[in-house]
Amino acid sequence: MKILYYCEGDSGNLLSALQARLPSHDIIEWSADAVIAKSEITAAIAWMPPEAFFDDLPNLTHVYAVAAGVDHFMKTAGLPADVDVIRLTDAGMGQQMAEYVLYGVLHAQRQMHEFQLAQLEKHWAHHLDARAATDTRIGILGAGQLGRIVAERLALNRFTVSCWSRGQKKLPAGVTSVFGGEALPEFASSSDILVCLLPLTVETTGILNGDLFKQMPRGAFVINPGRGGHLVDKDLQDALDTGQLSGAMLDVFHEEPLPDTHPFWEHPRVLITPHIAAKSLVNESADQIADSIACVARGEQPAGIVDRHRGY
Ligand code: NAP
Ligand code: GLV
Repeated sequence: MKILYYCEGDSGNLLSALQARLPSHDIIEWSADAVIAKSEITAAIAWMPPEAFFDDLPNLTHVYAVAAGVDHFMKTAGLPADVDVIRLTDAGMGQQMAEYVLYGVLHAQRQMHEFQLAQLEKHWAHHLDARAATDTRIGILGAGQLGRIVAERLALNRFTVSCWSRGQKKLPAGVTSVFGGEALPEFASSSDILVCLLPLTVETTGILNGDLFKQMPRGAFVINPGRGGHLVDKDLQDALDTGQLSGAMLDVFHEEPLPDTHPFWEHPRVLITPHIAAKSLVNESADQIADSIACVARGEQPAGIVDRHRGY
């Protein structure tokens, strides 16, 4: 099989890892001037491909997107409407995401943002109240590949954890499944820390907004490693400024890199990371893509097929 390849940011490691796992396939690196027998290409592996990447590929049937979130990828110019898109599922990201969110949860539960502010004022903030992990309710928006691994990690740390999704889920021990749009207000009102691990879709755009923040307990904390489009920035700023929320940890933004004029850079209650919560790992990504290609060759459905109608 001939597979067309273009992955922005790959210095060759992913390509070599794929070639090692797929020795009987011809993986052809795309470039504007490469001579490619395009009618022989039946699959593509891509991330941030240039506009011409999908030109003249009449026999393309499967595209492997090298990311978990495909909101951006699905808008790629020229992506044919009739090919199956298969995204990464986990690929080493679950463990990293669990660590990232655990870090943010501990930051909030141990009130580290208050201590950081106190330190700036050289104030010995010895009086702050302790709160047990079991008394700290974590609400995770999303119960997918990442949400459930994060939930399991937090439950092992004795936090009280619930995940919200469209459909009811069987989740790791100690994690409660909450589902459906109607359940969201109550879910928010019982989340001391809210974590967004949803895909960005028409339905989830702007879900982290002022109405939701008002439903949360006063002084709650928000962690967003989902996508920047989930958050209404101004509403977060207002909720922080009125004390409705005590802080936020954000990994993703409407515009990345975050413009240096954006108020979040200097907001004392916002902790910013530059879209590093979970990075796909080379070997794990290559394993999954190679497995998916083998699965398709057997006539089976691989994990991670994107439902274009749902958007994830
Ligand atoms: P996933 O496996 O597709 O899981 C998505 C979850 O969201 C599912 O539980 C789904 O519920 C739920 N969901 C979707 N739309 C919903 C809606 N309208 N209402 C309620 N629940 C809804 O995705 P994943 O692999 O866990 O990844 C989640 C997201 O994390 C990605 O899309 C990406 O944006 C982000 N991400 C960020 C980083 C980073 O470094 N910051 C890294 C990787 C991924 P159902 O299953 O019931 O439909
Ligand atoms: C990273 O944000 C991903 O979606 O893989």
